[in-house]
Amino acid sequence: MSSLAFTHLPHPNPTADDVRAVAIADPAFGRVFTDHMVSIRYKEGQGWYDAQVMPRGPLMLDPATAVLHYAQEIFEGLKAYRTDDGQMAMFRPHANAQRFNASARRMAMAEIPEELFVEACKALVEVDKDWFPNVEGGALYLRPFMYASEVFLGVKPASEYHFLVIASPVGNYFKSGAPAVSLWVSEDYTRAARGGTGAAKCGGNYASSLIAQQEAIAQGHDQVVFLDAVEGRWIEELGGMNMFFVFDDGSLVTPPLSGTILPGITRNAIITLAREAGLTVREEAYAIDQWQADAESGRLTESFACGTAAVVTPVGKVSRGDHQFTIGAGGPGQVTQMLKEKLVGIQRGRVADDHQWVLAL
Ligand code: PLP
Ligand code: COI
Repeated sequence: MSSLAFTHLPHPNPTADDVRAVAIADPAFGRVFTDHMVSIRYKEGQGWYDAQVMPRGPLMLDPATAVLHYAQEIFEGLKAYRTDDGQMAMFRPHANAQRFNASARRMAMAEIPEELFVEACKALVEVDKDWFPNVEGGALYLRPFMYASEVFLGVKPASEYHFLVIASPVGNYFKSGAPAVSLWVSEDYTRAARGGTGAAKCGGNYASSLIAQQEAIAQGHDQVVFLDAVEGRWIEELGGMNMFFVFDDGSLVTPPLSGTILPGITRNAIITLAREAGLTVREEAYAIDQWQADAESGRLTESFACGTAAVVTPVGKVSRGDHQFTIGAGGPGQVTQMLKEKLVGIQRGRVADDHQWVLAL
């Protein structure tokens, strides 16, 4: 237990049952929100204070609030599920808390006690437990985030922060509903460089990725593949997912955590599950030319992206300038499917949770 008690302010006018039922029937990703949010404040010298579970609503910000100018902001993404027997659970929330604090350190922000982060998530799920969507693969997506709330225009780490958690009932991240996604390799834009913020989950990383994502969509693709900033040769990750490559000898490769990619919690779980299934997983640099050559020769049989929002998503096609190549038969492959079933099975309570990844609520 953290030492900070939450004040509960119930919503005076919560969403009516029939309106909520429609909202969560087919929620897609990130457009529907629950009735409540968690809010906790931080001030240098005072620490964390004023923890509230309160009606969700707009924030009032002074125009000189530091985040609006220098972008000191970080966030997390994790899901609460209903297991097959109807119990509520979260997947590895302590790992999200630890990564949140790693992001906070990189952005020179205040760290939040790990237990307080997890309790904030739990408190919100508890109060908004009627918002779980019934759709296949649906979950309550939790978005903890923190911004510099000090009112000051000097360029320095803020002395005040505001931490919040909001919740969104979600279905599939990719609305296309296609069996596999198609990727666009960005040759003009990079996401992160050595010494930069690539390993932190800060809003700025996503802001700078949007033009490349826009280009990918304009070219008819779902997501953008970023290459390394030095040689433009090594595959790093997608705008919001890590990458895995599967070979005909049953081995897997995923780019290493070299400081320029996000250390995905799903990535970590997949490495563990694949090794337990007897597969070899190498965390090593993989070149874009090699990916194309291996896909064309058949040495590479599958590729998939993974993350909280996307879970495990097969890659079907890749475009790079004028070249296009297909992965395997262009649809979901066997290893991808097997790993997805194991992961989702653990999350839904259908497969033994040998690593205590699932936190029952
Ligand atoms: N890479 C980026 C850039 C992301 O935004 C995400 C999503 O959180 C991931 C990878 C996957 O991380 P995780 O599996 O922890 O959700
Ligand atoms: C997540 O998977 O939680 C993310 O933050 C990725 C984003 C593209 C929604």
